[in-house]
Amino acid sequence: MTQISPSLLSADFGNLDRDVDMVNDSAAAMFHIDVMDGRFVPNISFGFPVIEAIARRARKPLDVHLMIVEPDRWINQVRDSGASIMNVHIEACTHLHRTVQAIKAAGMKAAVTLNPATPILTLEEIIGELDMVLLMSVNPGFGGQKFIESTIDKTRRLRELINATGSHAKIEIDGGVNVETGRRLVDAGADILVAGSSVFRAPDPRAEIAALASL
Ligand code: DX5
Ligand code: ZN
Repeated sequence: MTQISPSLLSADFGNLDRDVDMVNDSAAAMFHIDVMDGRFVPNISFGFPVIEAIARRARKPLDVHLMIVEPDRWINQVRDSGASIMNVHIEACTHLHRTVQAIKAAGMKAAVTLNPATPILTLEEIIGELDMVLLMSVNPGFGGQKFIESTIDKTRRLRELINATGSHAKIEIDGGVNVETGRRLVDAGADILVAGSSVFRAPDPRAEIAALASL
């Protein structure tokens, strides 16, 4: 069984409770929440009031992916809005070790996200401290983009690093995930798949989550 984290970026914001309930009643393991600031990525999504509204209705953990500069400024607010997992981009953190410790001290799981062009080797000194690594399989900022093929081999190399170091970090992949790319990612060592458009544009989103979870 693969853990699925449906990305609410592709939900219908006019019917958010309905879409949160769909995920509540599905095989999904958690909710993926994409926060964008218009600086780290060329798009703006939503902020704390929306996360809080999701948290009030959600019956599964919130996996919050911060595509923002200086994410360390917002750790307590992210926790107070209801997050269980806080994902920060390695490209946005000058003092990553301090940020990871602060996320854990705030009571959340610490996850570090890598853009497609950022090498696995940048994790070498921090991998033992992490609960999760999120590999972007598209350039962040938008849903519905095409999967970047080199992520398959990158996932394999991250799995090797985790096994070699005895790290307990889970591997999550985000962008262009569907049943076809998901199958290959799971074979390469992925634990958690984020899926936005493939779930919310499916004729039966719950069935699509079940299909992904069975990979
Ligand atoms: C993109 C976001 C993703 C996005 C994925 O920057 O981080 O979580 O919602 O969307 P799909 O699954 O449609 O590629
Ligand atoms: Zn995301």
